[in-house]
Amino acid sequence: MQQLRVLIVGCGNIAGGFDAERPASAPPLTHAGAYWRHGGFRLVACVEPDAARREAFMQRWLIEKGYPTIEAAAVAGPYDVVSLCSPTALHSAHIAAILSLHPRLLFCEKPVTASGAETAAAVEVCAAAGVKMAVNHNRRWAPDIVRLKRELQAGAQGKGGPWGAVRSAIGIYNKGILNNGSHLVDLVQMLLGPLELIAAGPPLFDHWKDDPTVPALLQTRQGVPVTLNAAHAGDYAVFELQLLTERGMIAMEDGGAGWRVRRIVASPHFKGYAVLDSGQRTSGEYHASTLAAVGNVHDALTRGVPLASTGETALAAQRLCERIGQRALGRDGAAASAHRAVAPDFEPTTSPATLAGAFASTRSPALLPTLNEVHVPRRSAAAPDMRPDTEPETRPEPQPEPQPDPQADTQPETQPA
Ligand SMILES: NC(=O)c1ccc[n+]([C@@H]2O[C@H](COP(=O)([O-])OP(=O)(O)OC[C@H]3O[C@@H](n4cnc5c(N)ncnc54)[C@H](O)[C@@H]3O)[C@@H](O)[C@H]2O)c1
Repeated sequence: MQQLRVLIVGCGNIAGGFDAERPASAPPLTHAGAYWRHGGFRLVACVEPDAARREAFMQRWLIEKGYPTIEAAAVAGPYDVVSLCSPTALHSAHIAAILSLHPRLLFCEKPVTASGAETAAAVEVCAAAGVKMAVNHNRRWAPDIVRLKRELQAGAQGKGGPWGAVRSAIGIYNKGILNNGSHLVDLVQMLLGPLELIAAGPPLFDHWKDDPTVPALLQTRQGVPVTLNAAHAGDYAVFELQLLTERGMIAMEDGGAGWRVRRIVASPHFKGYAVLDSGQRTSGEYHASTLAAVGNVHDALTRGVPLASTGETALAAQRLCERIGQRALGRDGAAASAHRAVAPDFEPTTSPATLAGAFASTRSPALLPTLNEVHVPRRSAAAPDMRPDTEPETRPEPQPEPQPDPQADTQPETQPA
């Protein structure tokens, strides 16, 4: 097998630390662990300013050379692949420095940079330099998620498959709309296609001071509603996705380490009703994703295979996460001005007509929100056009203002009267 020369920048947890004390037989969760396990890479050098950490990393992963800066690592080049695993705030400057080493591929940790504008610039300069970019939204490489995507596509194209059509998606996450929410948004966009933001809920500052966890309502181009639900990172880590489909419910649990599938059965209590069974839990293949990722990196450079997770897919997720954050923070003047200092490129995107139309396509009139229930940014003379991020292929007509239905809360449709 062709041996590709690798430089790792930043020698912390995702670079190798998470694997440092795991048994050699365990599936690798890190860049260094996966490169070693694959066998088609040679770890030539690493960059880490902390001398003790650099030395320990070199010893653990048998790396020949270590340097305190990217510039100093030039002497051990050229490199085929550079893994960027330094803190996110440094990524923008580090990508510029890495490009001066002329690698063939940059395997970048997410988020690519701290803002959509910087990520867009990074994607552009890598493309201009002819450097491929893979981004570690690792679920894009998990074998079970890749299979699920094919099955859902069959359903969306009316070709049946095990699930039929997707009715809605429910994501649960914490620890920041950019840091972890971008994984969730990217996963849903991978499975269901581009998303449009409809409304954002109140920001929850559960871990990062500049990256709140935000609940949000979105929809796919086909009008499938997607909700992002916030948990508090101080309670526990959670990352889950439920898909309600025509033929049952699929739930990714424990970040993808497990799945629960609930199939349709006849109700044991109400004659003539179809309900979901209590479900079956199976193991997931999330832990195979990092090895599959470096396999894809190797194939991209040796056989021209397309990358499953790219700068473009990551940028699409990051831009949407920024819009969600901006929409949430726009409700609070103080928070909004603090946020603007961090990321000045947020733009409001959804018009009142889109909001009413989007809800009308998927919800019964009794559940339609009034426009004052959702935040609609004020349009000023200087403000750019407020248009949706994506154009639905068929946009539903705006509906008249709904009247509240006093029966709505007391008549669940799934129970006999
Ligand atoms: N894909 C995922 O699921 C996932 C999981 C964890 C972390 N990450 C991302 O990986 C990146 C690193 O996170 P981490 O948890 O490994 O952090 P970490 O703090 O464990 O590691 C970062 C390392 O970079 C080093 N560093 C600091 N300044 C540097 C410099 N100038 N040059 C080179 N190295 C420098 C630090 O000393 C540290 O060893 C972040 O962007 C994070 O968002 C992604």
